[in-house]
Amino acid sequence: MIIEPRMRGFICLTAHPKGAEQNVKNQIEYIKSKGAIAGAKKVLVIGASTGFGLASRITSAFGSDAATIGVFFEKPPVEGKTASPGWYNSAAFEAEAHKAGLYAKSINGDAFSNEIKRETLDLIKADLGQVDLVIYSLASPVRTNPNTGVTHRSVLKPIGQTFTNKTVDFHTGNVTEVSIAPANEEDIENTVAVMGGEDWAMWIDALKNENLLAEGAATVAYSYIGPALTEAVYRKGTIGRAKDHLEATAFTITDNLKSIGGKAYVSVNKALVTQASSAIPVIPLYISLLYKIMKEEGIHEGCIEQIQRLFQDRLYNGSEVPVDEKGRIRIDDWEMRDDVQAKVAELWKEATTETLPAIGDLAGYRNDFLNLFGFEFDGVDYKAEANEVVNIDSIK
Ligand code: NAI
Ligand code: NA
Repeated sequence: MIIEPRMRGFICLTAHPKGAEQNVKNQIEYIKSKGAIAGAKKVLVIGASTGFGLASRITSAFGSDAATIGVFFEKPPVEGKTASPGWYNSAAFEAEAHKAGLYAKSINGDAFSNEIKRETLDLIKADLGQVDLVIYSLASPVRTNPNTGVTHRSVLKPIGQTFTNKTVDFHTGNVTEVSIAPANEEDIENTVAVMGGEDWAMWIDALKNENLLAEGAATVAYSYIGPALTEAVYRKGTIGRAKDHLEATAFTITDNLKSIGGKAYVSVNKALVTQASSAIPVIPLYISLLYKIMKEEGIHEGCIEQIQRLFQDRLYNGSEVPVDEKGRIRIDDWEMRDDVQAKVAELWKEATTETLPAIGDLAGYRNDFLNLFGFEFDGVDYKAEANEVVNIDSIK
């Protein structure tokens, strides 16, 4: 069929398999162009199909020749209906990995469940013996706690008072004011239950209890801080509480890994267009101004550039892993530069529907958003028939 983007609100209902393949190939080429990384050889990536997790899988495989197991939650295609983008990304990733002689298998299902954890442990046991790196890169609006059976839904709300600020609908370019009422205690608890560190710790416990973590194994989860502009709705809002919990969990996990000389890290990453971040009010306007400035300064990065730098310059730099005063790895260092933030704050004041096309990178935002779904890639003939039914080698 001929596959075109079909938008509904902040999501795109279709995805393009050839475009997803191009996306993966571009990321692989980037990693190869930067040279070998003395990284882990057996890697488990939880949340491996899109965004930072996909970039982590690609960086491990094509930067360090690593065997990878990827866990994700994606919708397979059926005749006449496309898969979700992460399905096509993973199909393309496995195909490229296998062509390069690399082990790559994937598990599609709910990573929060006991069943998917069991399946993953068994696969590691059977095929790899142990892993030496676990990347935890889930972004989800909902989690059912397997121990209690309770389903928690996360919310994106400020805490304490109503937050009012500008936002943009990046499809239309309309800049409006948005007001978000504050969260209650239950909202906070639910958001922490979904996006905090509890499930990360459960994964590491399960792996360690069955001796599936190699001596000196590391695990990394991703966090965000961002500027004062978005603080009320992000870092000091419900999602920020979850990130506080995630960051605190790194220390508990590190204690738990002492006996094998292992360590847990949180890496604070840059704001980027992903399915997760597009749904957060205010963030798209911030990103469109940030992109404009970082591109002008020649310091703009996407997920793959960020993760390449994380692995090469931080995790596997051959010496100490540099961290901030709270023990976090910072690859948001360029985003958070004083000069960059001062310019964003200036532009923020001027941003209106009329000024944004000139002062912000709305076009870049839209392009990146469509890229998430495999659209707008050079080298792909979008007018041609494409087969929507694409299989992932390792998933029957
Ligand atoms: P994403 O939406 O691109 O990726 C999420 C991944 O989680 C996908 O592979 C998806 O299949 C998987 N997933 C979701 N629910 C699942 C479930 N129940 N079971 C198994 N897999 C599931 O998100 P993104 O942006 O890459 O986020 C990853 C992490 O990075 C999150 O912790 C996020 O907060 C963090 N981060 C994101 C930033 C951004 O600007 N996008 C900035 C800094 C950190
Ligand atoms: Na991810």
